[in-house]
Amino acid sequence: MDRGKLSLIACNSGVPFYKKVIKELKKMVNHSICIPGSKEYYFANGEVKTIIKNNVRGNDIYIFQNIDDPNSKNNINDNFFALLTAIDAARYADADSITAVIPQFPYARQERRKSREGITAKLVARHLESAGVNRIITLDIHAEAIQGFFPKAKLENLHASTTFINYFKSLNLEKENTVVVAPDMGSTERARIYSNALHFGIAVIDKERNYSKASTIANMKLLGDVKDKNLIIVDDMIATGGTLISAITELKKNGAKDIYIATSLPYFNGNAVEKFDKAYKEGIFKKILGTDAVNLGKEFSIEHPWYEEISMAPLFAKVIYNINHKHSVSALL
Ligand code: R5P
Repeated sequence: MDRGKLSLIACNSGVPFYKKVIKELKKMVNHSICIPGSKEYYFANGEVKTIIKNNVRGNDIYIFQNIDDPNSKNNINDNFFALLTAIDAARYADADSITAVIPQFPYARQERRKSREGITAKLVARHLESAGVNRIITLDIHAEAIQGFFPKAKLENLHASTTFINYFKSLNLEKENTVVVAPDMGSTERARIYSNALHFGIAVIDKERNYSKASTIANMKLLGDVKDKNLIIVDDMIATGGTLISAITELKKNGAKDIYIATSLPYFNGNAVEKFDKAYKEGIFKKILGTDAVNLGKEFSIEHPWYEEISMAPLFAKVIYNINHKHSVSALL
C-alpha cells in the first residue's frame, strides 16, 4: 500500500525546482498528484507566515525550498524560517508525513566544533524536527554525518555524480590522459567514485584553510601528476569560488591541459562569477558543470558560456515517487 496522497507545495524560493519536479512526476504518476497550493506572507516587520490553500489531511506532503537563492532578496536565514513555517502549517493541517525537499542543506559546513562555537548544522536539524518534519531530501550534503543529527527524521542524501559521470562519458576523454582531482581532502571519496567509474587517474590537493577568517585559504599542495592531462575537478559546492580559483591556478602552473569542474551546488556567492569570468578569459579552465539545485536562471549559461546546467529534477522526482510508493530508494542512489 502507498502512503497518503502524494502532495507537493513550495516556499517562494523552491518554486522553480518544484515546477520541474512536478513536470517529471506527471510522466510517472497515472492518477493525479495533489497540488494544494500555498502562499508565503510577509509582514511589515519581516515576519513570515505560510498558508496551505487546500486540504492535505492524511497526505504525504513534500515541501520544496531552495534556501540559498541568488534570485531572492531573502537571505538563507529568511528562507530557512519560511520553510519552518511551511512545515508547521502542514503539521497543523494534519498531513500524515512531511518531507522537506531542500537540495541545499543550510549550515552543512558547521557540522563540528573547532573552537568556542556551536554545531549549527545540528541546530538546523533540531529546528526541522521540532517543526514536524519526518524526512529531508537533499543533494550531496557537505558532511554525511549530519544524518546522525536527526534522532527521528530520515535524511535522504542524493548524488549528482551519476548524472555528471554520464556527461563525462559522453565527452570520450582519453583514459590515460585524464585525471580526476579532489580540490581538498574532504572531496577525495567523491573523486574516487568518479575515477573508478570513468577509469581515470586521481590527484588530490591538500588545502589548508585559515580558520581565523571566513572563506580564506592559507595554502595548497598538489599530490599527483597532472602535467599534460585533462582534469575533472569534483567539489560539492562553489561558494566564494576561492577553493576552485586557487586550485585551477595551481593545476595550470603544474602543466594541466583542459580543466572541467563538476559541482552539485553552484552558489557563486559574492563576486565569484566575476572571478570565473576572468579565469575563463585567461584560458585557465574550460567548463563548470552545475545543477539546478541552485536557481541561477535560464540566462546564466547564455551570459557565461563556461557554465552548463544539468537538471536534478528527474532524480528527485523518481526518489519522491519511490518514497510515496514504498519502493526502494537506495537503488536510485
Ligand atoms: C569545502 O570544504 C567545500 O567542499 C568547498 O570546497 C568549499 O566550501 C567551497 O567554498 P569556496 O568556494 O568559498 O572556496
